Amino acid sequence: MSILKDSFGRKFPYIRLSISDVCNFKCGYCLPDGYKIDKSDNRSFLNIEEIGRLAKALSELGVSKIRLTGGEPTVRKDFFEIVKIIKKNSGIKKTVITTNGYRLDKIADNIKNSGLDGINISIDSLNADTFKKITGHDRLGEILKGIKNLQKLNFKNIKINAVLLKGVNDTEKDFNNWAEFIKNNEIDFRYIELMQTGDNLDYFNNYHVPAKKFTDYLNNNNWVIQTFGKDAGPSKNYLNPKFKGKFGVIAPYSKDFCKSCNRLRITAKGDLRLCLFGNTGINIRHLMQKDSQIEELKDLILKQLNFKKESHYLEIGETGLTKNLSTTGG
Ligand code: 5AD
Ligand code: SF4
Repeated sequence: MSILKDSFGRKFPYIRLSISDVCNFKCGYCLPDGYKIDKSDNRSFLNIEEIGRLAKALSELGVSKIRLTGGEPTVRKDFFEIVKIIKKNSGIKKTVITTNGYRLDKIADNIKNSGLDGINISIDSLNADTFKKITGHDRLGEILKGIKNLQKLNFKNIKINAVLLKGVNDTEKDFNNWAEFIKNNEIDFRYIELMQTGDNLDYFNNYHVPAKKFTDYLNNNNWVIQTFGKDAGPSKNYLNPKFKGKFGVIAPYSKDFCKSCNRLRITAKGDLRLCLFGNTGINIRHLMQKDSQIEELKDLILKQLNFKKESHYLEIGETGLTKNLSTTGG
């Protein structure tokens, strides 16, 4: 049972932990010019011991699931050691990752052997040219091969996310391509509505399209919304008995979106972020230095939760501290 609870009664069994800001892709909405070192901030990324202590503290606070994100988490040389330390020593029940999938064909074996409990892969289009235009990399083939490899190894809990982009991947044909893909694949596919961040206003204005474009398609094609459990999180899922996979949609601009918020974020440099778009982000790293600090670390996280706001203010263009999602992993 999670004892992490905010003043609006929301519980937080789930943490998204970024382990690196570095990303090798150049997604138009996130890092259009590629990753650049932030010269104003010379702190290093959390090391493996700090991550181990943090995971333990979180688990003692009732957190059952950690999602490792980036940037791109697998660019870290010690990526699999990080997974190992969380899986072996922390008490966290589920460790999952969000990745852009580069190298997935080569590391599928290691992923399976690491005991990871799930993987979310970002694929914005099944069309190789469109994929290349969005990410700056012609790597769709190796990612899809990686997924096949994972399936051959009987790896379960594969999800794919795409950001919905006007005129890029939002036509009926795009939606049908994904439907075809999940027809015989036990893979869930979700569109995320494009969010405005501090850096991407022009891009946002050009490419934002309400998630309704996709939900209309779902409603017209016999997809039925799944009545969700209390801790289901912000994705709304749709079922169709003719398909092995589910569709889903994450619509951050929809009314009451924040009511189902069940996540906190910790950046790769150890800042606790109460909301993706909040202005609060205190550093908790100084309490990850010694095993004897775990109680203090737990206390600080608990106290900070009182500051979590009821909602973001995205609809009025308030993007908070978030310049782009490469520091917080979406
Ligand atoms: N809006 C919506 N989704 C975004 N992502 C990155 N930036 C944005 C944005 N501005 C997505 C990535 C990935 C996940 C981690 O977050 O495409 O699927
Ligand atoms: Fe990298 Fe993800 Fe940002 Fe794309 S969205 S540039 S894959 S961090």
